[in-house]
Amino acid sequence: MSQDVTRRKIEHVTVALGHDLTAPQAASWADIRLIHQALPEVDLDDIDTGTDFLGKWLRAPIFISSLTGGHADVATINARLARAAEHFGLAMGVGSQRAALVAPELAGTYAVVREQAPNALLIANIGAPQLIPQARKAPFTSADAQRAIEMIQADALAIHLNYLQEAAQPEGDRKAKGALAALGRIAAEVRVPVIAKETGAGMSREQALKLRDAGVSAIDVGGAGGSSMAAMEAVRAEQRGDAQTRAIGEVFRDWGIPTPISVIEAGEAHLPLIATGGVRSGLDAARAIALGATLVGVGFPMLKAASEGDDAVDAFISGFLNELRVAMQLTGAATLAALRRVPLIVGGATRAWLELRGYDDHLRALARRG
Ligand SMILES: Cc1cc2nc3c(=O)[nH]c(=O)nc-3n(C[C@H](O)[C@H](O)[C@H](O)COP(=O)(O)O)c2cc1C
Repeated sequence: MSQDVTRRKIEHVTVALGHDLTAPQAASWADIRLIHQALPEVDLDDIDTGTDFLGKWLRAPIFISSLTGGHADVATINARLARAAEHFGLAMGVGSQRAALVAPELAGTYAVVREQAPNALLIANIGAPQLIPQARKAPFTSADAQRAIEMIQADALAIHLNYLQEAAQPEGDRKAKGALAALGRIAAEVRVPVIAKETGAGMSREQALKLRDAGVSAIDVGGAGGSSMAAMEAVRAEQRGDAQTRAIGEVFRDWGIPTPISVIEAGEAHLPLIATGGVRSGLDAARAIALGATLVGVGFPMLKAASEGDDAVDAFISGFLNELRVAMQLTGAATLAALRRVPLIVGGATRAWLELRGYDDHLRALARRG
């Protein structure tokens, strides 16, 4: 079993780097238009991108998304991303730690992040499907979750919700009943805040409210429109000659609630929100924060840069931060708190969806505030 998990970890990275896994979505960040201020009266150099997240101060509202670990060849990627998280004052996640929970000799491929980022906000990662009994597999307990946290001396624990991905994996876990209650138990028992984290299929208002009631401290909406885990599994299934599972991954490639919509819907839970899924520029980040996100999560672009080297990661993050600062200046927002109050227009497929879900007044209020 541990062999399978570790092989899957390296396959995910290789597949993501070798294929375009983007989920096509009509509703996208381009639907969110921030209103330009011709005389912003804010100096670019005075812009402050700092923010609090779960009690820790970040210099910029960026979460280097949970991506990898669990195979010797990906430890370098984690080390590079961790150095950048430390240098730029960002949050960072590791990929699912299941591999090291079942094969402790792999712990170093995750623990490297704390060695390289002694002060950064680091987020451990386990999966909700593994919190309940699955075919021939016992569930992880709160003690296992605590081991994952201690493995990287994490400040928070992300519990990922990836039922679409599991359905598109030949070896995937199929049972879902009881996962919400199990997640609530873990949230009550571990010693750090728990973040519920979707992985590309997004978050509805109803699910966000259930997660809040279960006791999570934050939600990563993990919306559709960025890397598709279904597309990733379709490639793996194809490589194995498994046509049926491949079809699931392809048919459901763009399944889910787009990220900007997820931010508005999940906003009803009034918890800190991470907007992940297709955030590709500092302008996308500004749009997400203006919509109500606390942080943005960036996955694939970080993975790609880290596969190239430390300089590529630094260049990607500095460019992204420059774009965010320009968007803040042009909306007259010197701080992220001010950015959360700027007026914006929601159009296109995002608007159509939100109007049908009853958000007309909310959209009008967003357009007129400030
Ligand atoms: C190669 C790869 C591996 C991933 N592994 C995990 C994981 O183990 N746990 C998790 O919560 N999310 C995982 N994700 C999902 C990312 O955290 C993120 O939600 C997703 O990539 C969407 O962001 P993006 O559009 O910026 O890439 C993975 C993504 C990729 C591309």
